[in-house]
Amino acid sequence: MNNNIFVAGHNGMVGRAVHEKLNKNGQNSIFTIDRKSVDLANPEQFEDFVLDNNINEIIFCAAKVGGIKANNDNKFEFLYQNSVMQNNLFNIVRKHKIKKLTFLGSSCIYPRDCKQPIKEEYMLSGRLEETNDAYALAKISGVKFCEILNQSNSFDCRALMPTNIYGYHDNFSIDDSHVIPGLIRKFYEAKKNNNNNVEIWGTGKPYREFMFSEDLGDAISFIHSMKKSDFYKITGPKSLINVGSGDEMQIKDVAIMIADIFDFRGSITFNSSYPDGTPRKRLDLSLLDKTGWKKKHSIKEGLKNTVDWFRENFNSIRK
Ligand SMILES: NC(=O)c1ccc[n+]([C@@H]2O[C@H](COP(=O)([O-])OP(=O)(O)OC[C@H]3O[C@@H](n4cnc5c(N)ncnc54)[C@H](OP(=O)(O)O)[C@@H]3O)[C@@H](O)[C@H]2O)c1
Repeated sequence: MNNNIFVAGHNGMVGRAVHEKLNKNGQNSIFTIDRKSVDLANPEQFEDFVLDNNINEIIFCAAKVGGIKANNDNKFEFLYQNSVMQNNLFNIVRKHKIKKLTFLGSSCIYPRDCKQPIKEEYMLSGRLEETNDAYALAKISGVKFCEILNQSNSFDCRALMPTNIYGYHDNFSIDDSHVIPGLIRKFYEAKKNNNNNVEIWGTGKPYREFMFSEDLGDAISFIHSMKKSDFYKITGPKSLINVGSGDEMQIKDVAIMIADIFDFRGSITFNSSYPDGTPRKRLDLSLLDKTGWKKKHSIKEGLKNTVDWFRENFNSIRK
């Protein structure tokens, strides 16, 4: 039987990186669909698409995603949209015996005050970070569905836990974005408007691990293509695996790196009336190392590539 792989969410940052990587690898039979044709929150549309195209593998990169402010301000939507899409997904995987699923959790769904570096087994070992608890609860249910389905040998649901991602096709809006695209947008606007100050939300003190989207796309397609026995030998039946770069730094230092790329010479101030989120979330990458996968970009290269792409595509980017 052909491997008909559905990459869900291929217009988003991560989905695009996965799709491009599979195409580069010469992988045949990749299926994608725009949201206006198939809304994954609609159970019939989602199921019909899977059946009409004989989909037997899914890489699920679709989700409602946003930065700290968007998550904190719209908890209902983050919990609801993600839960509905995921419930449809896991119902279809179970009902139609989908051969292989790669599902994406996130490092931000581990407990707020987790021991560092964060091992996969620390999932649900403490209280969630309040600003994104709704998103985290939805994602945790997805991880749990993977674990439950894997209790039967006929399923192969892999749950990847990526760190903070940045790169091409990200959301560069001021209000809804994650930290790196938000900073890129702010320094770009400051340069354009000759502003001498850039204000950063929060204290700039939290540590974050950052990974370039092309590296994540590479890691996802690598892990998805691993033999079932090789993958579960590493993760056990929980199938949970952290995916990161090991590039950890304070937000204030990332801001300085981005300011340098823009040759911004003004001042940077920190507005501590905005929340910081989790103080630190460095992933333990021991399991990922065992797979043999290696990243290809340093943070400096990834940021430079992203800023170049942002400048070239400013008129069409999400902002
Ligand atoms: N960004 C990060 O830092 C990060 C970190 C860890 C994990 N992840 C995980 O990676 C995955 C992708 O994130 P991302 O940053 O690539 O987000 P993104 O750029 O916002 O992409 C999400 C994609 O999902 C699609 N989508 C959302 N709701 C849909 C629906 N009802 N029907 C069909 N498609 C729908 C969106 O379609 P439209 O284009 O039509 O809006 C978009 O293409 C998520 O599971 C996220 O949790 C991301």
